[in-house]
Amino acid sequence: MLHFEVKGHEIVVVNFQKKFYALNDRCGHMNAYLSMGALKGSNLVCPMHFAEFDVKTGKMMSPPKEFQIPGLDKLPKKFVEYLAEVGKLMAPVKTHDLRTYEIKIQDDIIHVRI
Ligand code: FES
Repeated sequence: MLHFEVKGHEIVVVNFQKKFYALNDRCGHMNAYLSMGALKGSNLVCPMHFAEFDVKTGKMMSPPKEFQIPGLDKLPKKFVEYLAEVGKLMAPVKTHDLRTYEIKIQDDIIHVRI
């Protein structure tokens, strides 16, 4: 995966099974860089809360995940309460599909239409 920016567009180009796809590089949940995530089959997995998006269509295939932070019980009580409040604020945030961009390969150069 490769991140680049042009004219205010933050784009990730993905090589999946020797075919290239271009999508918005900001997660449709809370804007994490998807280019810092991973590919799982044809899904691009967000590094922050692990929502998954199809690289071919940009559609969300799996929503953000809830997860437990190891060692949370060892942190100060006030900090754990703060994290719980942040979690309540984040829970209703909607996750949107990603914009995809048309790609054309010409003379071994990848062209992305913005
Ligand atoms: S920022 Fe990507 S799943 Fe939350």
